Amino acid sequence: MKKIIFVCLGNICRSPLAEGIAREIINKNNLSISVDSAGIGDWHIDEPPHHYSRQVAKDNGFSIDDLRGRKISIYGDSDFDMIIAMDSSNYEDLRALGFDKDRIFKIGDFGLNGEDIPDPYYQGKDGFIKVYNMLKITIENLLLKK
Ligand code: 4NP
Repeated sequence: MKKIIFVCLGNICRSPLAEGIAREIINKNNLSISVDSAGIGDWHIDEPPHHYSRQVAKDNGFSIDDLRGRKISIYGDSDFDMIIAMDSSNYEDLRALGFDKDRIFKIGDFGLNGEDIPDPYYQGKDGFIKVYNMLKITIENLLLKK
């Protein structure tokens, strides 16, 4: 089974939402892919996703309330086939941590001309809706396009 992990800075705003969107697409299409998410930093370990990420998920018909923050580790997370960064900074951090270059990707390269998914942490709900819309397009492209 193919293994994909989404990575952002805190693992409470963008990457848990990405994991939830991917989980929905995988379930609806019976895909043989496993998904996970993690953060570069350790500030939000064991915390549920940001309330706006959870709200935007619910507004779109699914829940990410079960997810908990965790930190990416070169020791435990090297067997993922695709390690997908939300922005250029996450991408550079993954390189610096020593992950295999061939397995690191940027989600914006799947249909948004490489655009970064903006960090919505200090934004209102509109920022999270924008993130959701960007993730929906790119993750559909990632999982469903041949
Ligand atoms: P995320 O957003 O990387 O999309 O989860 C952030 C969450 C928390 C922090 C930064 C970004 N923080 O500095 O605590």
